[in-house]
Amino acid sequence: MRHLLSTRDLSRDEAITILDVAEDMADVAEREVRKVPALRGKTVVNLFFEDSTRTRISFEAAAKRLSADVINFSAKGSSVSKGESLKDTAQTLAAIGADAVVIRHGASGAPYVLANSGWIDAAIVNAGDGTHEHPTQALLDAFTIRRRLHGADSRGHDLDGVSVTIVGDILHSRVARSNTWLLSTLGASVTLVAPATLLPIGVENWPVEVRYDLDIALGAKPDVVMMLRIQGERMHAAFFPSAREYSRIWGLDDERLAVLAADSIVMHPGPMNRGLEISAAAADSPRSTVREQVANGVSIRMAVLYLTLSGEGGKQ
Ligand code: CP
Repeated sequence: MRHLLSTRDLSRDEAITILDVAEDMADVAEREVRKVPALRGKTVVNLFFEDSTRTRISFEAAAKRLSADVINFSAKGSSVSKGESLKDTAQTLAAIGADAVVIRHGASGAPYVLANSGWIDAAIVNAGDGTHEHPTQALLDAFTIRRRLHGADSRGHDLDGVSVTIVGDILHSRVARSNTWLLSTLGASVTLVAPATLLPIGVENWPVEVRYDLDIALGAKPDVVMMLRIQGERMHAAFFPSAREYSRIWGLDDERLAVLAADSIVMHPGPMNRGLEISAAAADSPRSTVREQVANGVSIRMAVLYLTLSGEGGKQ
């Protein structure tokens, strides 16, 4: 794997390979010394033009567990604030010998520009680009679902027959897009639930069912309920009457939590708006996989860095 830009590009077998390698990486986390020399001598740059907690620190932890050297770059406090371009930033990273660049950017498509520009000959990993994709989030979500269903020995399994309901701000969500492509490739059935104002144009062409009533969607007893963050920072208009109204109609509150099937799980990519799209009881319940998702994110990101930097087709 040369780059990871999108889950739409991944075949079923490629996705399962990443999940299976992540299982091997999760085994490393169980050891007394949680470090292997697989990427010794490689340099990974975390290039973050947008804020992040989970993605940035888990890529850093992943690279360090593989013994890579890690450089963290955030646009705030860098020469980007003086107007430096993405091209000059990329060429600076090339000059210091970056082998992989993990990029988060507010512009959809920025990782594709880096991968195809010729400015830098490094593996490019998309850590979230605008409203487009967040592939490692979808991979860690699939990994979390697979582990809940099949236990730690879930190698080789896809998600055939699993029902996943994704709820909330689909319009602005790169997580929803990456999950839709990946989960359907793995055989899951995906239902989107949102107010019409928070659904993207063209959603009828996605491999999903669309519903507008959360109670009807939850009445179908999905295996997985994935709540999405309301992305206030990307909203430049009123997409719903008020936060209270949104929470009442589309929030996972304590009453809705109670109607879920006994073995269903509740996911959220974080950061959460507690009390808006998800109640504190739902976020902290035994059904919630929020903390597992974060822990699994390290294993997935180890797998992606390993496969892009030392795997077939990677830069040697
Ligand atoms: N889920 C996610 O991408 O979280 P961060 O924005 O904190 O990285």
